[in-house]
Amino acid sequence: RSTRFYDFKVQTRKITKLCETKNVVTINGMFPGPVVYAQEGDRVIVKVTNKTPHNATIHWHGVRQKLSCWFDGPAYITQCPIQTGHTFVYNFTLVNQKGTLLWHAHFSWLRATVYGAIIVYPRNGVHYPFKAPHAEHIIILGEYWLKNAIELEQATLTGGGATFPADAYTINGRPGPNYNCSTNDVYKIQVVAGKTYLLRIINAALNTEHFFTIANHKLTIVEADAEYTKPFSVDRLMVAPGQTMNVLVKADQPIGKYSMAMGPYMSARNVSFRKTPAIGFFQYKGTTPNGFAFSAQLPSFNDNFAVMKVMNGLRSLNTNKVPLEIDRNLFFTIGLNVEKCRSLNPMKSCQGPHGGVLAASINNISFISPNISLLQNYYYNTINGHFTEDFPAAPSKSYDFVNGAPNNSPNDTQSVTGTRTMVLEYGTRVQLILQDTGTVTTENHPIHLHGYNFYVVSYGTGNYNPNKAKLNLVDPPYMNTIGVPVGGWAAIRFVADNPGVWFMHCHLEIHMSWGLSMAFIVKNGKGASETLPPPPTDFPRC
Ligand code: C2O
Repeated sequence: RSTRFYDFKVQTRKITKLCETKNVVTINGMFPGPVVYAQEGDRVIVKVTNKTPHNATIHWHGVRQKLSCWFDGPAYITQCPIQTGHTFVYNFTLVNQKGTLLWHAHFSWLRATVYGAIIVYPRNGVHYPFKAPHAEHIIILGEYWLKNAIELEQATLTGGGATFPADAYTINGRPGPNYNCSTNDVYKIQVVAGKTYLLRIINAALNTEHFFTIANHKLTIVEADAEYTKPFSVDRLMVAPGQTMNVLVKADQPIGKYSMAMGPYMSARNVSFRKTPAIGFFQYKGTTPNGFAFSAQLPSFNDNFAVMKVMNGLRSLNTNKVPLEIDRNLFFTIGLNVEKCRSLNPMKSCQGPHGGVLAASINNISFISPNISLLQNYYYNTINGHFTEDFPAAPSKSYDFVNGAPNNSPNDTQSVTGTRTMVLEYGTRVQLILQDTGTVTTENHPIHLHGYNFYVVSYGTGNYNPNKAKLNLVDPPYMNTIGVPVGGWAAIRFVADNPGVWFMHCHLEIHMSWGLSMAFIVKNGKGASETLPPPPTDFPRC
């Protein structure tokens, strides 16, 4: 196995987009950022130097960081941020991992522009479980903001519940012809008739889940969250922020120019968001470049059915390790406390984080970020009131894990703030039910767990009922981010065999800012192979 070295300078650069020139935070002046290429089993070393006036960290989303939690990246969870002028070297091994992942900043809302792909090829001599494609292309879905990302977070938190729609959706940083001054700021793939292409689709958007489609072409999903799936063909797919999907596309249509479109999936009511799709082109060799393009049809923004269709088709290609027995049953309600909070409480007494009108919570606990690193303080046993270890296993004491609760809705007025974690013994086999709630606005929440993939053994709409839920223990998808169905639930299973402090949160940045997150502490096991080594010597300080 080999070692891949990368040098990342977090720096601002002037970028002109949507008719405006502004300073954008980038890595090495690139937007989207550089691609990290590696092979399964490789060590990856990335030296990150922060040349901006504010803090920064980088998270390697979906990299399981086996025994290397120190390099996971979420600010104040595993590490203190890298301060202005400082350097931190991330150093981790891609143990049993290959496929498409992403990296992104994990401080404030910096990931709005600080993101890029991680491509992990199979080991030498190992082939894809499908015929080798003619070529591969990376497709990163994003949102572009004319406001600076840190100011945007502040404005959202202090704005009394106002949310700001993205100024543009982008494919590989490019909005395409639907947007002002963007006719030439468009991403194109050149294809040859008859050939098959592998598209590595990554959703790096900040606040919106997205549909993706190509006019007149089938998308055959072969991988989701860097795990092979049984091939499954759809006309359009939904990718949640943090998720990745590899699809095969055969250029089997008459020679021509075909639109690729990306547009929002927004299941919530009463939310303002941009509807204009980003457009790119899937263009056959031999087409006049500026000619007519077949237009792509996206589902309507609230098409839950289109989302379920993709979810229902996701099956792991090879599974054999789904935990059949469970040591701990957890039931987490996830939700936004919106109108109830607003109408019952004048702004001041609302108990959301940051004194805002809105709160988001898990089991009625709205997460407050500490100003130290949880992992460091846990490791050195200097908890000192920075956090507690009493995150509840269910929203209420009376929750009945066998028969289910008659009504899973949390009482929004009782959400409290806190920095609470849940401790898991090494090797615990966990089943976690994620139940979407919200008395006014339910919404599909992309829940991401750091440090693990989990088996999505079941999901459905309405309230979870353990007597009715059908479990797939044979070939469930093995994901790191799951879009919990709107007003519904998902059941996930994982074995807590990677010691450290692992953040779990909604990957819509705005919900994370409102408190939709928590952290698991996974204790060390017995031998060295079950124990987190000490931190590196250059570990940042708060
Ligand atoms: Cu991709 Cu904690 O996130």
